[in-house]
Parts: sequence; structure tokens; C-alpha cells
Amino acid sequence: MFANPLAPEWLTAPAEANSLPSTVWSHNAARTETGELAIAGVTATQLVRDFGTPVYVIDEADAIARATEIKGAFDSAFARIGSSVKVYYAGKAFLCTEVARWMTAAGLNIDVASAGEMAVALAAGVDASRLGFHGNNKSLSEIDRAVRAGIGPIVIDSVVEIGRVAEAASRHGRTQPVRLRINSGVHASTHEYLATAREDQKFGIPLSDAEAVVAQIRTHSSLDFVGIHSHIGSQIFDTAGFAEAAQRLLELHARLSAAAPVPELNLGGGFGIAYTSADEALPVAELAESLASIVESECSRLGIEVPRIAIEPGRSIIGPSTTTLYTVGTIKDVLVDGEAVRKYVSVDGGMSDNIRPALYGADYSARIANRVSDADPTLARIAGKHCEAGDIVVRAEYLPGDVEPGDIIAVPATGAYGWAMSNNYNYLARPPVVAVLEGKARIIVRGETEEDLLSRDAGITPSGDSE
Ligand code: LLP
Repeated sequence: MFANPLAPEWLTAPAEANSLPSTVWSHNAARTETGELAIAGVTATQLVRDFGTPVYVIDEADAIARATEIKGAFDSAFARIGSSVKVYYAGKAFLCTEVARWMTAAGLNIDVASAGEMAVALAAGVDASRLGFHGNNKSLSEIDRAVRAGIGPIVIDSVVEIGRVAEAASRHGRTQPVRLRINSGVHASTHEYLATAREDQKFGIPLSDAEAVVAQIRTHSSLDFVGIHSHIGSQIFDTAGFAEAAQRLLELHARLSAAAPVPELNLGGGFGIAYTSADEALPVAELAESLASIVESECSRLGIEVPRIAIEPGRSIIGPSTTTLYTVGTIKDVLVDGEAVRKYVSVDGGMSDNIRPALYGADYSARIANRVSDADPTLARIAGKHCEAGDIVVRAEYLPGDVEPGDIIAVPATGAYGWAMSNNYNYLARPPVVAVLEGKARIIVRGETEEDLLSRDAGITPSGDSE
């Protein structure tokens, strides 16, 4: 088969372009007898008929299974070394009340990073004590609301926040659990925007200042210091960065424990997932085992008890659960440098429903969803409908060469930071999120309407006329 020279090195031309590699697609994605994509028994054409495109389709059982798997893997790995684990689902990846309920029913807690995320979790009926609260610039009113609601640990991210949280806690007559976010200085190998523990960035307290800052926290009787926290970044594949951070943190943890007991160590989230068949995610059990081994050997080297562990995965739970469906509108064969053709397949969404390719150069994969085809695979670029050239949904993928207007395109692994970072560029309405389970589909977040889009424009009177 002809491999297109415009294809990136990692992308190999497949023998046929209909397969659904299980490393990338949600557990319950499969082709039906007629060749259509079905997710949890609901076909792509049925989904498009009922909900239109674009639509985010979340495989409910997949999301819950991944939450359960991560919790189970960490529970058993750390039980082996005499410890326990609190798993916080990082709600920033994708949160709505339904997902909050799935996560808590699976035994997870929820990490929120704003009053809005907190409001969603509380609206879902999640007990406030099961929420952790992050952010490098929480407002006074966010802190007040959180403390008043009886939130679980607030992660202090700067010195000025100590007094703010202590004061709110005294005002509400509470002893507020707090963690301290440490910038471990570990250079995680990921996109620059996704690495959060390099020196030159906004999060946390440098390792070298941490003891003094914890001493300051401990002077406040309204604060209960539960432990230190580190999140080195996101979409990380190798364990070396996590291992390095855990080592650095445990040394600090040991020094802090010498003054008073420190019950917990929070290792953050950031576990990478496969977006294309070139990516290889770390098996969760392996990751949990290797972190447990590092924690065990470091604790014995330092002569301290193994603390309770907390982790905050988002992407690895929700990312692979979701597939976005689009409809193909136009197709152009573009001759590049006079030597090779790239097929531009334009769909009815784009950087408004998934900004990750434009923002991070993120790669995704894609398939035709409404049929299989034995046409020769051809190098395609799936573009959105927005007014800029960087509006790309899938930079490079081999699709059957007979892809045509009206085909449904499915893009897997869009569950994390897709809907969460969606926007209304060009006044596109945000698509609905539909959960599929055992042959049934239901909306868990409705899509926006044109009325929603106009509703905040102060120049429009209630009758719809402009003033
Ligand atoms: N904990 C903290 C403190 C975090 O800041 C994050 C992500 C997580 C946990 C969860 O990380 P995860 O397991 O989901 O990788 N918008 C970017 C990702 C930004 C991540 C922000 N913090 C993206 O689309 O790749």
C-alpha cells in the first residue's frame, strides 16, 4: 500500500482503515454485522438520528470500569505495603452531576478546582467532605463557600492563602483540613503547557520553602494539616517522573513528620492515555505497583511509616470513555508541495468542541462510523468548520479513500478536556453529551440551542427584536 510522505512518522498505513484498536476505543465500541460503529449497543446512525452532530457519546460502563479499575489497582498495591489510598476523580477533565454520581458510587472522591465545579458536585448530592479543592488563585468567596459547605481538604497553593483559609475556618467555627501543594521541580516529559512542576510556572510552593510554610500552617488552630501534594503534569507515560516526585516528596514528608504526624501524601494525577494506536498507556496495575514499591522502599530508607496515599486521576478515567461523532460536510484533495495529496475532510464541529489539537498539537485518531469500506486507505486531515487554518480535529489519519459527504466520523478518546474546554467560537453551540449503556442512550448534558447563544446578549429584547 502507498504510504503518503505527508504522514507523520508515527502513523503507519493500515491494511484496512475500519478496525477499532482496543487501546484507543472505549470498552464497548464494536462494529455491528452491517459494519456500523455501535457503542454499548447503540449504533452511530441511531445516535446521529436522535441527537444530531456533533455529539459526545460517553460509554457509561467504560467510565465506571476505569474508575473501579484504578481504585482497585491502587487499593491492592498499597494494601500490600500496609497503606491505603484515597482516589479523587479530577473533575476538571469532565464533570456533570451524572458523572459525579458514577464516580462516588464507585468509591472515589472528587477533586474540584473552582466554585463552579464544586457546585456541580454538590448538586449531584456528593457529600462535601468527599471533595478536595484545588486552585492557584481561589477567590475569597470560593474559599468561604467551600469552608461553609464543609469541604474536604483545601489544597493551599501560596503563602497568602494560609491566612485566608484559616480566617474563613474560624469564621465558620470549623477546623479545615488542608494540604500544601509542592512544586517538586520534576521535569515531566509532556507538552510544556501540561507540565506543572517545572520551576518557572505558577503552581505550588518550592520544595526549599515547604518546611517554613508548613510551620506557618501549623500555627493556625483552625487548620488541620493533612499532608503535602504534588502534581507533576498531565498525559505522562513513563513512571520515572512520578517516581522522582514521590522520592522528593517523601524526603520532605519525613522531615515534616519529625515535628508532628503527617497522615497523607498526595501524588496527583496525570496518567497518560492512548489517543492513537502509536500511544501506549501504562497498565494501571503496573503503575500502581511501581509507585507502591517506590513509596515502600523510600519509607524504609527514611525510617518512616508509610503514609496514606491520595491520587487525582482525571484523563485516565474519563478520556477513553467518550467518542465524538461528526458529520462530513465537504472534502478537498489538496496537493501539497506539488508531490502528494492530503485529503481535507471537513466536519461540523472543530476547535469549539475539542480545542486540544489547536492548543497542544494533540493527535487523535478517527474512523468512518456509519459503514465499513474496503477502499484503499488514504491520508486524511479532519478539519473543523471554524474560521482559522489551525482548526483541526485530527491532524493525520488514514481513512478509507471513498469517504464522502454525509459519512459519520467518529473520534475516540475525547472524554477528557474536550467538553470541559469547549467554547462558542464562531457562535457554535456546544454539543450534547449522551450516555450509552446496554443498548440505550440518554442525554446527560443537553446541547446548547441558538436561544442559549443569544440569551446573554444585552442588546436583544425578550421578544427577540434588537433595541
Ligand atoms: N490534579 C491536579 C492538581 C491537576 O492540576 C490535574 C490536571 C489533575 C490532577 C488531573 O490530571 P489528569 O489525570 O487528568 O491528567 N487541559 C489539558 C490538561 C490540563 C490538566 C490540568 N490539571 C489537556 O487537555 O491535556
